Amino acid sequence: MIDWMRRTPLDQHGGRLGAAEEHPGFADVAYRRRRDRLAAAAEHHPVGSASPRVEYTEAEHATWRTVHAALVEAQRERACREVLRAGENAPVPADRVPQHEEVSDHLEQLTGFRFTLAGGIVPNKRFLGAMADGYFHAVQYVRHPAMPLYTPEPDVLHDVFGHGTHLCDPWFADLYRTVGRAAARVESRDALDLISRLYWFTLEYGVAWEDGSPKAYGAALLSSYGELGHFPRADLRPLDIPDMLRLPYEVAGYQPVLYAVDALPRLADFLHGFLDDFDEDTCARLSLPALPERGFMARPGPGGTLDRRG
Ligand SMILES: [Fe+2]
Repeated sequence: MIDWMRRTPLDQHGGRLGAAEEHPGFADVAYRRRRDRLAAAAEHHPVGSASPRVEYTEAEHATWRTVHAALVEAQRERACREVLRAGENAPVPADRVPQHEEVSDHLEQLTGFRFTLAGGIVPNKRFLGAMADGYFHAVQYVRHPAMPLYTPEPDVLHDVFGHGTHLCDPWFADLYRTVGRAAARVESRDALDLISRLYWFTLEYGVAWEDGSPKAYGAALLSSYGELGHFPRADLRPLDIPDMLRLPYEVAGYQPVLYAVDALPRLADFLHGFLDDFDEDTCARLSLPALPERGFMARPGPGGTLDRRG
């Protein structure tokens, strides 16, 4: 039995939450077997080696097409213009699930990034640190077909639509590397947790003001039809690191608090300003509050998006 099916609640990536047992994948043994088989290929997979080719089924391609049509429409209305511009170059076919290697070949030409295989939980040090070397951990499995606009865990749709769009744009790719370099410099769990939170509230769930309206740029928002519809009603706060650190962990519902930068280009100043000389002493030097819990993990895993087991 795979872990994420055993636990509740499910994560926020799909934009709708509920008990794990409510998810159609929970009782679908064939689906779970397929998902687990694709995830198992990531075990002992060295960062940077080629992902295996997956023979996706017609049902999986159909799920992709359904989500693609919904997301393209929703992003047109709710995504930042910089994201829409990046999307023009993104390796996101409309009709089929793309292979990791073709996505990677495309990204590499544009920004030097490649996908590297993940099967679920990836420790912060590996997940964040690999970004310094131009590798982004991505999964290959597809969400359950009965609920194509919702997924209890990040899937290939999330990784390609969200992170794949970012990583074909040099400006976004630089921010991933900035996060990665900071993570590569530190070892302590607290320091990695802090970087993980910063990554989470910006590149995963970030919002930017644009002509007086909040627009999505975070990968989790960009790849979730539900979140794209809901995020303007969240508690939108200005970027504030101490506030991000104090925020209690929410386990149910849409993300209730999101952080909005006043204009997307300023995000680079914010992240570079904090992360470029980040080290083990940064928290003490800036008297930052301790994280409410330990073990924040930026790479969603089978246990949920914000895995707290650390
Ligand atoms: Fe993500």
